[in-house]
Amino acid sequence: MEPWWRSAVFYQIYPRSFADTGGDGVGDLAGIRCRLDYLQWLGVDAVWICPFYRSPMTDFGYDVADYCDVDPMFGTLGDFDRLLAEAHARDIKVVVDWVPNHTSDQHPWFVEARRARDSPKRDWYVWRDGPGTGAGGRPNNWKAAFGGDAWTWDQATGQWYLHLFLPTQPDLNWRNPEVEEAMHATLRFWLDRGVDGFRIDVVQGLTKDPALPDDPPGQLLPHAAVNDCADTHAVLRRLRQVADAYGGDRVLVGEVYLLSTPTVARYVGNGDELHLAFDFTPLYEPWDLGAWRGRIEEVEEELAPVGGWPTWTLSNHDNPRHRTRYGGSERRARAAAVLLLTLRGAPFLYYGEELGLEDALVPPDRVVDPGGRDGCRSPMPWDASPGHGWPGAAPWLPWAPEPEVRNVASLRADEGSILHLYRRLLAARRSSPALHGGAWRPLEAPAGVLAYERADGDDRRAVLVNFGEAPATVALEGPWEVEVDSDAALEGTRFRGRLAGDAAMVLRPA
Ligand code: GLC
Repeated sequence: MEPWWRSAVFYQIYPRSFADTGGDGVGDLAGIRCRLDYLQWLGVDAVWICPFYRSPMTDFGYDVADYCDVDPMFGTLGDFDRLLAEAHARDIKVVVDWVPNHTSDQHPWFVEARRARDSPKRDWYVWRDGPGTGAGGRPNNWKAAFGGDAWTWDQATGQWYLHLFLPTQPDLNWRNPEVEEAMHATLRFWLDRGVDGFRIDVVQGLTKDPALPDDPPGQLLPHAAVNDCADTHAVLRRLRQVADAYGGDRVLVGEVYLLSTPTVARYVGNGDELHLAFDFTPLYEPWDLGAWRGRIEEVEEELAPVGGWPTWTLSNHDNPRHRTRYGGSERRARAAAVLLLTLRGAPFLYYGEELGLEDALVPPDRVVDPGGRDGCRSPMPWDASPGHGWPGAAPWLPWAPEPEVRNVASLRADEGSILHLYRRLLAARRSSPALHGGAWRPLEAPAGVLAYERADGDDRRAVLVNFGEAPATVALEGPWEVEVDSDAALEGTRFRGRLAGDAAMVLRPA
């Protein structure tokens, strides 16, 4: 039997911004639980919840101070268990975020490691003496992800420690077997509770070249975006064994932030490393036919031969939302939804994209993220009331534009809305083996249009995406009927070859 994640659509929840029950303006686990009916109505198969562990929140939860507890801001372990049980009761899988590259500097492991050079936990992190070749005597010239150097001097013990991200996120030393064992125990903690898998943060960072060589002079990228040390693959094989010991249906989805599809493809190994590896190259493509066609073909060439299942992401918590990136047009966002949900592989939806949310405009005095990512993390507007379904204090970030009309309740009441389009796409995908699992093959199409077929045995669909603003005429062999139309106008009618500008369709044989 095919594993569940090969036909699943994932829905990413940024818990601070999804739904609040406590009234403090920050979302919580009980809030997610209360909105499970909505997610079931929408038709997603799995949720991935960004970190909700104990954390000082310098990187809003990606700085973990305790991998095995819930931050009081989000609730309790009991709240998590209830959320998990109620999600499972609705046939929704739950994938949690796991942050193995670094801990918080407040994690007891680092507090202990920092205490003295001869601390038993010293070697759990990456320490080096000065002076090295980097600026100011740093061990090397690596840059941290949100600016500045990747090394911080610890005055008390007279050594540098490595952090590929903030100074409050010291990197763990995955070459130390005790670290590996302790981190495996944190995985088992959540596996024992019944989670369906993990989204693993910064996979490409886990091991570093022991020589810590300088990055080439003039390289502008932070080191986290280029670190790709071969030893990480052995670490992943052992992580996979931990997950596989739970019956084989727990999924490992890795963030491999290396912008090269062939490189990312290596992280699935021979089916013995990650199940799914995020390929973020499409996140940085414009809304352009040539660019997208190139991406899709490369993914097919690199992943299909090794049996890898592609991943497709248009938006996430680290980048501007795609509607904003593609120029703000809702028509385009609708066409993009058809593309995302009909490619071969696992689509990852980002909460709120089904409402057509744009990034919020965040005034300088409301900026809180050191990485400048606040705009895509705006609160989910649930209804048209002044608080938009947030019960107490105003949410921690400003609303995206038009919350009075662009909210769940208003769009749910309008069958022609983008929200209903997502729902119809999810339903079409679920009921068609061609769409959720079939082969992909390009079809002839006029300029500006991407056309492809998905096929599984007798089940076939054709998909047309018009990247241009002008209408197009598409000649397809055989009679087809419109199953889903991004304009919501032609569904159920015979396809007559006309495709509006910035529009897309799923066709089924008539
Ligand atoms: C990943 C996360 C990002 C976080 C970083 C450090 O890239 O997606 O949000 O800031 O790792 O943990």
